[in-house]
Amino acid sequence: MPPLAVLQQGVFSCDANRVTGAVQAGLTSSLHDFTIHNYVPIRSLALRNRKPMKLAEIADGLTCLSIKTLSLALQSPGLARRYLSSCSKTYDELAGKGLPSRSPVTPIENATIALPAYHSGGGMSFAELVILARTTKTRKPKTIFEMGTYNGLTTAVFMLNSAPDTVITTLDLPPSPQIVSENISSDKELISSRELASVPKALGLSRYTQLLCDSMQFDPSPFENSVELGLVDAAHDLIHVRSDTEKMATMMKEDGIVFWHDYGGKGILRPLASYLEKVASKCPIYRIPETSLAWAPAKGLKTAFAQAA
Ligand SMILES: C[S@@+](CC[C@H](N)C(=O)[O-])C[C@H]1O[C@@H](n2cnc3c(N)ncnc32)[C@H](O)[C@@H]1O
Repeated sequence: MPPLAVLQQGVFSCDANRVTGAVQAGLTSSLHDFTIHNYVPIRSLALRNRKPMKLAEIADGLTCLSIKTLSLALQSPGLARRYLSSCSKTYDELAGKGLPSRSPVTPIENATIALPAYHSGGGMSFAELVILARTTKTRKPKTIFEMGTYNGLTTAVFMLNSAPDTVITTLDLPPSPQIVSENISSDKELISSRELASVPKALGLSRYTQLLCDSMQFDPSPFENSVELGLVDAAHDLIHVRSDTEKMATMMKEDGIVFWHDYGGKGILRPLASYLEKVASKCPIYRIPETSLAWAPAKGLKTAFAQAA
Protein backbone atom coordinates (compact mmCIF):
# COMPACT_ATOMS: atom_id res chain seq x y z
CA MET A 1 0.00 0.00 0.00
CA PRO A 2 1.58 3.39 -0.96
CA PRO A 3 1.84 6.12 1.66
CA LEU A 4 -1.11 8.46 1.34
CA ALA A 5 0.88 11.42 2.45
CA VAL A 6 4.24 11.74 4.12
CA LEU A 7 5.53 14.84 5.79
CA GLN A 8 9.22 15.55 5.76
CA GLN A 9 11.33 14.02 8.55
CA GLY A 10 8.80 11.42 9.54
CA VAL A 11 5.77 13.48 10.39
CA PHE A 12 2.75 11.97 8.69
CA SER A 13 -0.65 13.20 7.76
CA CYS A 14 -3.66 11.42 6.32
CA ASP A 15 -4.70 14.50 4.37
CA ALA A 16 -2.42 15.76 1.63
CA ASN A 17 -3.75 19.34 1.91
CA ARG A 18 -2.81 19.47 5.54
CA VAL A 19 0.71 18.28 4.87
CA THR A 20 1.45 21.64 3.35
CA GLY A 21 -0.17 23.28 6.36
CA ALA A 22 2.10 21.44 8.77
CA VAL A 23 5.24 22.34 6.89
CA GLN A 24 4.15 25.97 6.62
CA ALA A 25 3.37 26.04 10.33
CA GLY A 26 6.94 24.94 10.97
CA LEU A 27 5.83 21.85 12.82
CA THR A 28 8.45 19.71 11.21
CA SER A 29 11.36 22.00 11.94
CA SER A 30 11.72 20.64 15.45
CA LEU A 31 11.20 17.02 14.52
CA HIS A 32 14.03 14.99 13.16
CA ASP A 33 15.53 11.52 13.09
CA PHE A 34 12.18 9.80 12.80
CA THR A 35 11.56 6.36 11.43
CA ILE A 36 9.50 6.40 8.27
CA HIS A 37 6.59 3.97 7.96
CA ASN A 38 4.03 3.62 5.25
CA TYR A 39 1.10 5.36 6.76
CA VAL A 40 -2.16 4.92 5.07
CA PRO A 41 -5.87 4.56 4.48
CA ILE A 42 -8.72 6.45 5.92
CA ARG A 43 -11.45 4.38 7.49
CA SER A 44 -14.93 5.72 7.85
CA LEU A 45 -16.71 5.23 11.12
CA ALA A 46 -20.36 5.58 11.88
CA LEU A 47 -21.19 7.97 14.71
CA ARG A 48 -23.26 6.22 17.32
CA ASN A 49 -25.22 6.92 20.48
CA ARG A 50 -25.13 10.60 21.32
CA LYS A 51 -26.78 10.97 24.71
CA PRO A 52 -27.51 14.21 26.54
CA MET A 53 -26.11 14.19 30.06
CA LYS A 54 -27.60 17.23 31.69
CA LEU A 55 -29.62 15.23 34.24
CA ALA A 56 -26.56 13.20 35.24
CA GLU A 57 -24.61 16.43 35.73
CA ILE A 58 -27.32 17.86 37.97
CA ALA A 59 -27.56 14.60 39.94
CA ASP A 60 -23.77 14.56 40.46
CA GLY A 61 -23.94 18.16 41.68
CA LEU A 62 -26.77 17.51 44.12
CA THR A 63 -25.02 14.56 45.76
CA CYS A 64 -22.09 16.79 46.76
CA LEU A 65 -24.03 19.93 47.64
CA SER A 66 -22.63 21.78 50.67
CA ILE A 67 -22.04 25.28 52.04
CA LYS A 68 -18.54 25.12 50.57
CA THR A 69 -19.94 24.31 47.12
CA LEU A 70 -22.37 27.22 47.32
CA SER A 71 -19.63 29.55 48.49
CA LEU A 72 -17.43 28.57 45.53
CA ALA A 73 -20.39 28.83 43.14
CA LEU A 74 -20.92 32.43 44.28
CA GLN A 75 -17.28 33.18 43.41
CA SER A 76 -17.30 31.28 40.11
CA PRO A 77 -19.46 28.46 38.72
CA GLY A 78 -16.30 26.98 37.16
CA LEU A 79 -14.64 26.64 40.58
CA ALA A 80 -17.77 25.00 42.02
CA ARG A 81 -17.85 22.56 39.11
CA ARG A 82 -14.20 21.60 39.72
CA TYR A 83 -14.85 21.13 43.43
CA LEU A 84 -17.95 19.01 42.83
CA SER A 85 -16.17 16.88 40.27
CA SER A 86 -13.22 16.27 42.57
CA CYS A 87 -15.46 15.49 45.62
CA SER A 88 -17.58 13.13 43.62
CA LYS A 89 -14.52 11.36 42.17
CA THR A 90 -12.93 10.94 45.59
CA TYR A 91 -16.21 9.64 47.00
CA ASP A 92 -16.48 7.02 44.22
CA GLU A 93 -12.91 5.87 44.90
CA LEU A 94 -13.38 5.61 48.67
CA ALA A 95 -16.83 4.01 48.38
CA GLY A 96 -15.55 1.47 45.86
CA LYS A 97 -17.83 2.70 43.07
CA GLY A 98 -16.77 2.42 39.44
CA LEU A 99 -13.67 0.55 38.34
CA PRO A 100 -11.72 -1.41 40.97
CA SER A 101 -8.36 0.04 42.06
CA ARG A 102 -5.13 -1.65 41.11
CA SER A 103 -1.59 -0.58 40.34
CA PRO A 104 -0.29 -1.55 36.89
CA VAL A 105 3.29 -2.34 37.99
CA THR A 106 5.55 -2.90 40.98
CA PRO A 107 8.94 -1.45 40.08
CA ILE A 108 12.10 -3.05 41.43
CA GLU A 109 13.70 -1.38 44.44
CA ASN A 110 16.63 0.25 42.69
CA ALA A 111 14.74 1.50 39.61
CA THR A 112 14.76 5.22 38.80
CA ILE A 113 12.57 7.25 36.48
CA ALA A 114 13.07 10.55 34.66
CA LEU A 115 10.51 13.31 34.20
CA PRO A 116 10.58 16.73 32.55
CA ALA A 117 10.80 19.28 35.38
CA TYR A 118 8.69 21.83 33.52
CA HIS A 119 4.96 21.12 33.16
CA SER A 120 3.68 22.37 29.83
CA GLY A 121 -0.01 21.60 30.36
CA GLY A 122 -2.19 18.99 28.74
CA GLY A 123 -3.99 17.82 31.87
CA MET A 124 -1.72 14.97 33.01
CA SER A 125 -0.60 15.58 36.60
CA PHE A 126 2.94 14.88 37.79
CA ALA A 127 1.56 11.91 39.79
CA GLU A 128 0.14 10.50 36.57
CA LEU A 129 3.37 11.11 34.68
CA VAL A 130 5.16 9.15 37.42
CA ILE A 131 2.84 6.20 36.83
CA LEU A 132 3.43 6.26 33.07
CA ALA A 133 7.19 6.54 33.67
CA ARG A 134 7.20 3.65 36.21
CA THR A 135 5.19 1.48 33.85
CA THR A 136 7.49 2.24 30.93
CA LYS A 137 10.58 1.59 33.04
CA THR A 138 9.24 -1.65 34.50
CA ARG A 139 7.50 -3.23 31.52
CA LYS A 140 10.14 -2.12 28.98
CA PRO A 141 7.72 -1.91 26.02
CA LYS A 142 9.31 -2.09 22.58
CA THR A 143 6.42 -0.25 20.94
CA ILE A 144 4.43 2.62 22.42
CA PHE A 145 1.44 4.29 20.77
CA GLU A 146 -0.16 7.43 22.13
CA MET A 147 -3.43 9.03 20.98
CA GLY A 148 -3.29 12.74 21.88
CA THR A 149 0.15 14.37 21.76
CA TYR A 150 -0.65 17.96 22.78
CA ASN A 151 2.76 19.53 23.59
CA GLY A 152 4.46 16.16 23.86
CA LEU A 153 4.81 15.92 27.64
CA THR A 154 3.71 12.29 27.86
CA THR A 155 5.61 11.52 24.65
CA ALA A 156 8.73 12.88 26.37
CA VAL A 157 8.06 10.72 29.45
CA PHE A 158 7.91 7.65 27.21
CA MET A 159 11.20 8.63 25.54
CA LEU A 160 12.94 9.38 28.81
CA ASN A 161 12.03 6.04 30.38
CA SER A 162 12.17 3.56 27.51
CA ALA A 163 15.05 1.71 25.88
CA PRO A 164 16.76 3.50 22.95
CA ASP A 165 15.28 1.03 20.44
CA THR A 166 11.68 1.49 21.58
CA VAL A 167 9.44 2.65 18.72
CA ILE A 168 7.26 5.53 19.94
CA THR A 169 4.39 6.85 17.85
CA THR A 170 2.06 9.66 18.82
CA LEU A 171 -1.08 10.87 17.05
CA ASP A 172 -2.65 14.31 17.04
CA LEU A 173 -4.78 16.40 14.74
CA PRO A 174 -3.25 18.25 11.79
CA PRO A 175 -2.40 21.94 12.36
CA SER A 176 -5.74 23.53 11.41
CA PRO A 177 -8.28 20.83 12.09
CA GLN A 178 -11.99 21.07 11.69
CA ILE A 179 -13.37 21.10 15.23
CA VAL A 180 -16.39 18.81 15.23
CA SER A 181 -19.54 19.44 17.21
CA GLU A 182 -18.95 16.36 19.37
CA ASN A 183 -15.78 17.89 20.80
CA ILE A 184 -16.31 18.88 24.42
CA SER A 185 -15.27 22.40 25.48
CA SER A 186 -12.03 21.36 27.21
CA ASP A 187 -10.92 19.47 24.06
CA LYS A 188 -11.67 22.50 21.90
CA GLU A 189 -9.41 24.56 24.18
CA LEU A 190 -6.62 21.96 24.06
CA ILE A 191 -6.82 21.68 20.28
CA SER A 192 -6.40 25.40 19.79
CA SER A 193 -3.71 25.88 22.47
CA ARG A 194 -1.41 22.97 21.57
CA GLU A 195 2.18 23.51 20.50
CA LEU A 196 2.95 20.09 19.08
CA ALA A 197 6.42 18.80 19.89
CA SER A 198 7.38 21.78 22.06
CA VAL A 199 8.34 19.58 25.04
CA PRO A 200 10.50 17.06 23.13
CA LYS A 201 12.11 19.99 21.30
CA ALA A 202 12.97 21.78 24.55
CA LEU A 203 14.47 18.56 25.93
CA GLY A 204 16.34 17.68 22.74
CA LEU A 205 14.34 14.46 22.32
CA SER A 206 13.48 13.27 18.84
CA ARG A 207 13.19 9.49 19.00
CA TYR A 208 9.53 9.30 17.99
CA THR A 209 7.13 9.51 15.08
CA GLN A 210 4.43 12.16 14.99
CA LEU A 211 1.28 11.24 13.08
CA LEU A 212 -0.99 14.12 12.10
CA CYS A 213 -4.46 12.73 11.59
CA ASP A 214 -7.92 12.88 13.11
CA SER A 215 -8.20 9.71 15.19
CA MET A 216 -11.65 9.08 13.67
CA GLN A 217 -10.00 8.79 10.26
CA PHE A 218 -6.89 7.02 11.43
CA ASP A 219 -6.45 3.48 10.13
CA PRO A 220 -4.87 1.31 12.85
CA SER A 221 -4.28 -1.73 10.61
CA PRO A 222 -0.55 -1.05 9.92
CA PHE A 223 -0.02 -1.29 13.70
CA GLU A 224 -2.20 -4.37 14.31
CA ASN A 225 -1.04 -6.57 17.23
CA SER A 226 2.20 -4.61 17.62
CA VAL A 227 1.79 -2.10 20.48
CA GLU A 228 3.03 -3.00 23.97
CA LEU A 229 2.02 0.20 25.77
CA GLY A 230 -0.92 2.33 24.58
CA LEU A 231 -2.29 5.63 25.88
CA VAL A 232 -5.75 6.92 24.89
CA ASP A 233 -5.78 10.66 25.61
CA ALA A 234 -7.13 12.46 22.51
CA ALA A 235 -10.72 13.74 22.38
CA HIS A 236 -12.76 12.88 25.47
CA ASP A 237 -16.35 12.69 24.21
CA LEU A 238 -17.97 9.29 23.96
CA ILE A 239 -17.83 8.97 20.17
CA HIS A 240 -14.08 9.56 20.04
CA VAL A 241 -13.20 7.55 23.15
CA ARG A 242 -15.12 4.53 21.92
CA SER A 243 -13.53 4.67 18.46
CA ASP A 244 -10.03 5.35 19.87
CA THR A 245 -10.40 2.47 22.35
CA GLU A 246 -11.52 0.03 19.67
CA LYS A 247 -8.62 1.04 17.46
CA MET A 248 -6.15 0.82 20.33
CA ALA A 249 -7.42 -2.69 21.11
CA THR A 250 -6.68 -3.85 17.56
CA MET A 251 -3.20 -2.32 17.68
CA MET A 252 -2.26 -3.90 21.01
CA LYS A 253 -0.14 -7.00 21.48
CA GLU A 254 -1.82 -9.53 23.76
CA ASP A 255 0.70 -8.98 26.55
CA GLY A 256 0.49 -5.19 26.30
CA ILE A 257 -1.13 -2.62 28.57
CA VAL A 258 -3.51 0.24 27.71
CA PHE A 259 -4.00 3.47 29.68
CA TRP A 260 -6.83 5.99 29.45
CA HIS A 261 -6.65 9.47 30.90
CA ASP A 262 -9.55 11.42 32.47
CA TYR A 263 -11.38 8.47 34.01
CA GLY A 264 -13.64 9.30 36.94
CA GLY A 265 -14.46 12.90 36.07
CA LYS A 266 -18.05 14.07 36.20
CA GLY A 267 -20.03 16.43 33.99
CA ILE A 268 -18.70 16.40 30.43
CA LEU A 269 -16.25 13.59 31.30
CA ARG A 270 -18.92 11.30 32.70
CA PRO A 271 -19.64 9.47 29.39
CA LEU A 272 -15.96 8.45 29.21
CA ALA A 273 -16.18 6.85 32.66
CA SER A 274 -19.51 5.19 31.93
CA TYR A 275 -18.11 3.77 28.70
CA LEU A 276 -15.04 2.28 30.40
CA GLU A 277 -17.23 0.84 33.16
CA LYS A 278 -19.41 -0.78 30.49
CA VAL A 279 -16.36 -2.28 28.77
CA ALA A 280 -15.19 -3.45 32.21
CA SER A 281 -18.22 -5.75 32.41
CA LYS A 282 -16.51 -7.79 29.66
CA CYS A 283 -12.83 -7.59 30.65
CA PRO A 284 -10.65 -6.37 33.52
CA ILE A 285 -10.14 -2.59 33.65
CA TYR A 286 -8.77 -0.82 36.71
CA ARG A 287 -8.48 2.71 38.06
CA ILE A 288 -5.36 4.08 39.72
CA PRO A 289 -6.34 5.74 43.03
CA GLU A 290 -5.89 9.48 43.37
CA THR A 291 -5.38 9.87 39.64
CA SER A 292 -7.55 10.03 36.54
CA LEU A 293 -5.79 7.09 34.95
CA ALA A 294 -7.48 3.81 34.12
CA TRP A 295 -5.67 0.84 32.60
CA ALA A 296 -6.31 -2.61 31.22
CA PRO A 297 -4.26 -5.66 30.28
CA ALA A 298 -4.57 -5.76 26.48
CA LYS A 299 -5.46 -9.44 26.29
CA GLY A 300 -8.91 -9.08 27.87
CA LEU A 301 -9.65 -5.92 25.95
CA LYS A 302 -8.80 -7.55 22.61
CA THR A 303 -10.94 -10.59 23.43
CA ALA A 304 -13.88 -8.41 24.52
CA PHE A 305 -13.85 -6.41 21.28
CA ALA A 306 -13.24 -9.48 19.11
CA GLN A 307 -16.31 -11.16 20.66
CA ALA A 308 -18.42 -8.03 20.19
CA ALA A 309 -17.47 -7.72 16.48
C1 LIG B 1 -5.35 15.96 26.66
S1 LIG B 1 -4.39 16.38 25.29
C2 LIG B 1 -3.10 15.18 25.27
C3 LIG B 1 -2.12 15.42 26.39
C4 LIG B 1 -0.87 14.59 26.30
N1 LIG B 1 -1.16 13.18 26.32
C5 LIG B 1 0.02 14.95 27.46
O1 LIG B 1 -0.42 14.75 28.61
O2 LIG B 1 1.12 15.45 27.26
C6 LIG B 1 -5.41 15.86 23.98
C7 LIG B 1 -4.83 16.04 22.59
O3 LIG B 1 -5.65 15.29 21.70
C8 LIG B 1 -5.76 16.00 20.50
N2 LIG B 1 -7.00 15.59 19.83
C9 LIG B 1 -8.26 16.00 20.09
N3 LIG B 1 -9.11 15.42 19.25
C10 LIG B 1 -8.39 14.61 18.45
C11 LIG B 1 -8.70 13.76 17.36
N4 LIG B 1 -9.95 13.64 16.93
N5 LIG B 1 -7.70 13.08 16.75
C12 LIG B 1 -6.42 13.21 17.20
N6 LIG B 1 -6.06 14.01 18.21
C13 LIG B 1 -7.03 14.70 18.83
C14 LIG B 1 -5.77 17.46 20.89
O4 LIG B 1 -5.32 18.26 19.81
C15 LIG B 1 -4.82 17.47 22.08
O5 LIG B 1 -3.54 17.84 21.67
